[in-house]
Amino acid sequence: MLLQSISTTFTSTRFSTLKTSPFISQNSIKRSTRISAQILTNENKFSVSDQSLESRGFNLHRTFEELDLDQLNTVFVAVGFPKRDTNKIRIALEHTDSLLWIEDTRYRKPVAFARATGDGVFNAIIWDVVVDPSYQGIGLGKAVMERLVEELLQRGISNIALYSEPRVLGFYRPLGFTADPDGIRGMVYSRKQKKR
Ligand SMILES: CC(C)(COP(=O)(O)OP(=O)(O)OC[C@H]1O[C@@H](n2cnc3c(N)ncnc32)[C@H](O)[C@@H]1OP(=O)(O)O)[C@@H](O)C(=O)NCCC(=O)NCCS
Repeated sequence: MLLQSISTTFTSTRFSTLKTSPFISQNSIKRSTRISAQILTNENKFSVSDQSLESRGFNLHRTFEELDLDQLNTVFVAVGFPKRDTNKIRIALEHTDSLLWIEDTRYRKPVAFARATGDGVFNAIIWDVVVDPSYQGIGLGKAVMERLVEELLQRGISNIALYSEPRVLGFYRPLGFTADPDGIRGMVYSRKQKKR
């Protein structure tokens, strides 16, 4: 999401750890241990595994080394973001902590992208979540977001926020994001509203 859009909703997530009950049988312990072990594998951690994505012709990337920034800009424009200076996109990516993009290997082009900036310890903000319109609705947005959030959590970053357009709130909610948690509202600097 771009900062240009001032009418945004602030959403954030804090993931709680799984608690175990003292009132469970040995069988349930075995069963739950098995389930937990499964959840930890890549196959089950995400709605779609890396292998499944690969078999469908999609490769995941976590750096922008092989990313064609003009093609990325084309995806931004295709979803309605303003066209941006490619050099500025490069600088933004150089200052980005975590990023993920999906390549359609048949056409060797980016079709899904998301990135997060932050302080590397406590806080992160997710930006530029996009899926090429021809590839929307097949799980790529969710695949990118799940992995980006997981990567941040693995690094101990639990305060994860993003700006959401109202029409996309329903996409972020099942991923664990909440609008106005505990009444907290996001505020965006607006030059127009600044009192002189
Ligand atoms: C929003 C966006 C990233 C979603 O990506 P996508 O690949 O189309 O979404 P997915 O196919 O992964 O959908 C995952 C789930 O979210 C749901 N979903 C997708 N877009 C949704 C929306 N706008 N509102 C509500 N639910 C949505 C899907 O139905 C799916 O549900 P399921 O898991 O129950 O099947 C994509 O539509 C996009 O790039 N939009 C334009 C740019 C944009 O608005 N970015 C966000 C800026 S805040």
